[in-house]
Amino acid sequence: MAAVVVVTGASSGIGRSLALAWARRGASVVLSARGQGALERVAAEARAAGGDALAVAGDVTVEEDRKALCERALGAYGRLDVLVNNAGRGYYAPSLEIDPAELEAIYRLNVVAPVRLAQLAIEPLSAAKGTIVMVSSIAGIVAAPRMGAYASSKFALEALAMSLRAELASRGVRVLVVRPGPVATPFHANAVVTDDNVGYRPPGHKPQSPEEVAEGIVRAVEAGRDVLETSLFVKTASLAARVAPGPMRWISKQMARRSGL
Ligand SMILES: NC(=O)c1ccc[n+]([C@@H]2O[C@H](COP(=O)([O-])OP(=O)(O)OC[C@H]3O[C@@H](n4cnc5c(N)ncnc54)[C@H](OP(=O)(O)O)[C@@H]3O)[C@@H](O)[C@H]2O)c1
Repeated sequence: MAAVVVVTGASSGIGRSLALAWARRGASVVLSARGQGALERVAAEARAAGGDALAVAGDVTVEEDRKALCERALGAYGRLDVLVNNAGRGYYAPSLEIDPAELEAIYRLNVVAPVRLAQLAIEPLSAAKGTIVMVSSIAGIVAAPRMGAYASSKFALEALAMSLRAELASRGVRVLVVRPGPVATPFHANAVVTDDNVGYRPPGHKPQSPEEVAEGIVRAVEAGRDVLETSLFVKTASLAARVAPGPMRWISKQMARRSGL
C-alpha cells in the first residue's frame, strides 16, 4: 500500500524536495505551509511525479490549523505512515541582541509545533507503526556564534526527539532526527536577522542540494534509522563536538572574532 506522508514546510526547499521524492515512490503526500499558491504548485508537481497530493494551507504554530492538517490527512487517506516536521525558520543575531518576542516565535515554530503535531498524529501513526521525522540541524549539536537563538530551538527539538523516540518504541513508532548542514534553499532569506552579518563560516561549509538531502531522508525512513547526518561536514562537526569539546570552544571563539564580535 502506498505510504501517506504529511510534510510541513512543503512549499519550499527541503520540504518541497521531500514531497517530490515521496511522490516519485507513489506516496500520497499531504502538504502544509502558509502560502497557498506555492503549496498548490508543489501539489501539482507531486501529482506529475507519480504521487497523490493534498495541499492544506495553514500555520503550524496555530492549533486549529494543526488539527485541520491532521484531520484533512486522515479524512482523505484514512491512515498516516510518516509525519515530517520540517517547517522551520532561522534567526541570526548576537545573543545580546536577541528579541524576546522573535525568540518565542521561533520556539513556537521550531519546537512547539513539531511536538504538538506528534501528539495530534500519534493514533494513526501508531496504527501504521509509522515514523516521525524531526528536521533538526547541525545547529542542534553545535551552537555557532550569532546562532544562539536558532541553535537553542534545535537543541530543544533534539532533546524532545530523544525522549519521544524512547517513549514511542513500545508503540512501534520510530523517530528519525535529521541534521542537515547548509542546504541551498531560501532558508537564509527567510530567517530573522538583525544585520547582514550571518557569521563566519568555516571551510568545508558547502551547501548541499535540497534534492540530495530529501533523498537521504526518504531512504533513512525506509531503513528505519534513528539519526541522519546529511554530509561529511555535518558528521565531522557533530563528532568533534562530542569528542573534542575544548578545541570546538576555541574554534567557536575564533569564529566569533572573525564575524566582528
Ligand atoms: N537550508 C538550510 O541550510 C538548513 C540547514 C539545516 C537545517 N535546516 C532546516 O530544514 C528545515 C527546512 O528548511 P528550508 O531550508 O527548506 O527552508 P525554507 O526554504 O525557508 O522553507 C521553509 C518552509 O516552511 C514553511 N513555513 C514557515 N513558517 C511556517 C509556519 N508558521 N507554518 C507552516 N509552514 C511554515 C514555509 O512556507 P510558508 O512561508 O509559506 O509558510 C516553507 O515551506 C527547517 O526546519 C530548517 O531549520 C535548513
